[in-house]
Amino acid sequence: MFRRLVVMLVLAVVATAAPAAAQESAPPTATTTQREMVVTANPLATAAGAKVLQQGGTAADAMVAVQTVLGLVEPQSSGLGGGAFLVWYDAASGEITTYDAREKAPLAATEDRFAGLGFTDAWQSGLSVGVPGTPMLMEVVHETHGNRPWSTLFNPAVRLAQGGYEVTGRTADQVTALLARNPNCSDRLFFRDPTAFEYFTNGSETECAAVPAGTRVRNPDYADTLRTLRSEGASGFYSGPLAESIVDAVQTDPAIGGDMTLADLAAYDVVEREPVCVDYRGHDVCGMGPPSSGALAVGQILGILENFDLGTDPLGEEFVHRFAQAGRLAFADRNLYVGDTDFVTVPVEGMLDDAYLASRAALITDMDMGTAAPGTPPGEFDPTGPQEADTEGGTSHVSIVDRYGNALSMTTTIESSFGNGVMVPGGGFLLNNELTDFSFSPTAGDGTPIANRVQPGKRPRSSMSPTIVLDADGNVELVTGSPGGSSIIGYTAQSIVNVLDFGLDAQEAVNVPHHQNRNGSTNLEEPIPGVTIDYDVAALAAALEARGHPVSVGALTSGLSVIQVTDDGFVGGADQRRDGSVGGR
Ligand code: GLY
Repeated sequence: MFRRLVVMLVLAVVATAAPAAAQESAPPTATTTQREMVVTANPLATAAGAKVLQQGGTAADAMVAVQTVLGLVEPQSSGLGGGAFLVWYDAASGEITTYDAREKAPLAATEDRFAGLGFTDAWQSGLSVGVPGTPMLMEVVHETHGNRPWSTLFNPAVRLAQGGYEVTGRTADQVTALLARNPNCSDRLFFRDPTAFEYFTNGSETECAAVPAGTRVRNPDYADTLRTLRSEGASGFYSGPLAESIVDAVQTDPAIGGDMTLADLAAYDVVEREPVCVDYRGHDVCGMGPPSSGALAVGQILGILENFDLGTDPLGEEFVHRFAQAGRLAFADRNLYVGDTDFVTVPVEGMLDDAYLASRAALITDMDMGTAAPGTPPGEFDPTGPQEADTEGGTSHVSIVDRYGNALSMTTTIESSFGNGVMVPGGGFLLNNELTDFSFSPTAGDGTPIANRVQPGKRPRSSMSPTIVLDADGNVELVTGSPGGSSIIGYTAQSIVNVLDFGLDAQEAVNVPHHQNRNGSTNLEEPIPGVTIDYDVAALAAALEARGHPVSVGALTSGLSVIQVTDDGFVGGADQRRDGSVGGR
């Protein structure tokens, strides 16, 4: 049961936070509800989830409505063609479980898959597409934890796809940014796929431009796909005409064809895995273990910070320094050890061992340590070499609590902005490029195999960090997570520290400018009027530089979705760096 939740008068309204206008100078304040809450990166998705909750649905039911709407209205970030990790707190048993719906490499994949290819050529190709997991995740989680009829959960997305929705500024901006990477409109790598080009642009081969924000668009193919899922379940996606279209789109990619087959789709499975939890100052912080590096890296950052008094200022120089050092140490281990545990042995327990993390914390001095070397955690692991730093994006986070006391934290992705850029003909959704999360090289410089190398049927390492935090009595107190590529780890860890250590509410925690170090430079977020709190970023940068940090200041556009469970109800934190919104009542 949720912690001493005071059930106050339940107002029959959906409390959806209005996005803050950029010209406002004060960041948004928290929304509080009493019975249930959903936080997503888009108001239409939030409204769809809130309605399911209002009708008595569980968080699992609401997730299906949310995900199907996100795939339509935030198509650059997640969808049926992608994968997800989901952490579930079950009120009846008090247990946390995790669902791995990560995309898988085709069975024909070999470890030299990306040999000789740069990131962009691999990304914009059929080689980067992993077998999608999201449709099966929706079915498995609904069958296990849902109470509403499956068929009803598709109605909001079908209505929007058929009737039309307005393209957001974020979608239009992201289309514009990718088009700008082409030499010209007719010679295109980005939006090379005619279906995606027609849907997301004005279609001009000479003056191509994104569909303007606010344009009302329809996606009848997506509505048809949803109807197929509604009537046939996930098998209507993993076999039959839709599966044939997916395979055809991958194999006949206009840039480089891929090798996914119908057999790969038919063999896809969602795996229920034990959560990876760390005790942090008496709180149980639980998330997704391998193939995600999320819970391990978030857990290491927290476990290292636990050795320090963090003070009272979430942007104080001392705290930012220590958070950066903890990030360096965590990323050094992550890049060496973490891969899909169905293929490689990862020292999961050893990486979170208290004594090991205390020994790592002892490496932190008043000065920046420079590039951290990986440690040697207790436990078994395969000989492995370090992977080069990676870049990621195109992800969304959903946090939900329902009236029954269940909680759900799901990070969902198609990897980069607009996935691999190909829209399945007749399907109305984009394919992922998740396989670029594998190491492009199978071995390190000395020839040692890299844990996250490509192997057939393997899932690429992720940074996604869907998290649920329990208090000392085992009650849910925080549901959090973020998109942001490998920055997800820092964003999520910071949101936890902001709430648990600095006593901020969920929205205040989101409003704090980000800072982190992924074992490179220390990144500081430039404050955004009306979105983040203001601070003297130049002074902080100078202070850190005096301690030897290489500092970069700029945009760190997370999309945190945070729910805090308090004595006074659910407190929602939505991220105005994206189109975040809170719903429920
Ligand atoms: N697509 C982001 C990640 O898996 O880390």
